[in-house]
Amino acid sequence: MTSLLRIDSSLRTDGSVTRALTGAFADAWEAAGGDVVARDLQSAPLPHLPYFGLHFPASENDPAQWDVARALQNEVIEQVKAADALVIAAPLINYSVPSTLKAWMDYLHVPGVTAAPVPEEGPLAGKPVVIVSPRGAAYDEPGAETRLDHAVPALTALLGDALGMSVEAITVDRTLANLLPELDPAKAETLLDAALAMATQRAAELYAQLS
Ligand SMILES: Cc1cc2nc3c(=O)[nH]c(=O)nc-3n(C[C@H](O)[C@H](O)[C@H](O)COP(=O)(O)O)c2cc1C
Repeated sequence: MTSLLRIDSSLRTDGSVTRALTGAFADAWEAAGGDVVARDLQSAPLPHLPYFGLHFPASENDPAQWDVARALQNEVIEQVKAADALVIAAPLINYSVPSTLKAWMDYLHVPGVTAAPVPEEGPLAGKPVVIVSPRGAAYDEPGAETRLDHAVPALTALLGDALGMSVEAITVDRTLANLLPELDPAKAETLLDAALAMATQRAAELYAQLS
């Protein structure tokens, strides 16, 4: 079966835009005939990467106290390797990804293991990744400070540039409109509907491409 790894990282369950988007993606994937493996980094967070040396391949000289974290790292890596595609929730949290997602990224990136000198030749090369990234503010305004979004660029640098995966992103702005009326709730709803439709469409297209 063609397998999707769904990674959630929203701080909330009720009202989460990313969970609605990863959910729509996963539902469309399953409707097409695929299976879905879920990892929720908010309800089951990884500890921060505890040792500098874990950024590098395991060796027989590694101290025994690294073993638990190394096992966790292997599990993270094997889960990504086993998936045919990934959908990753990356809500913009203080201009970047949630710290839970950052920890997952830190476990995954191991030069010589997941990252090859030529990224296109690495073990994850070409694997499709769809990032869904809501932003509370109106980055779609003319002149908006899009440089302040360090979520999609950081994930793309790691998964795409370093690991050679095939990365695309679905962003949706104004998700705080229900709390801040100046963000135009009607416009926010239209943007969300479009993003949900896009998530459903991309899941079906990617599944068809991979099956
Ligand atoms: C702690 C925190 C920090 C946030 N920082 C930003 C930010 O820097 N820029 C922004 O546009 N929205 C920011 N937001 C709003 C979230 O991006 C927005 O609510 C998004 O929809 C959250 O994802 P979720 O709906 O899946 O929970 C922040 C929200 C929280 C809770």
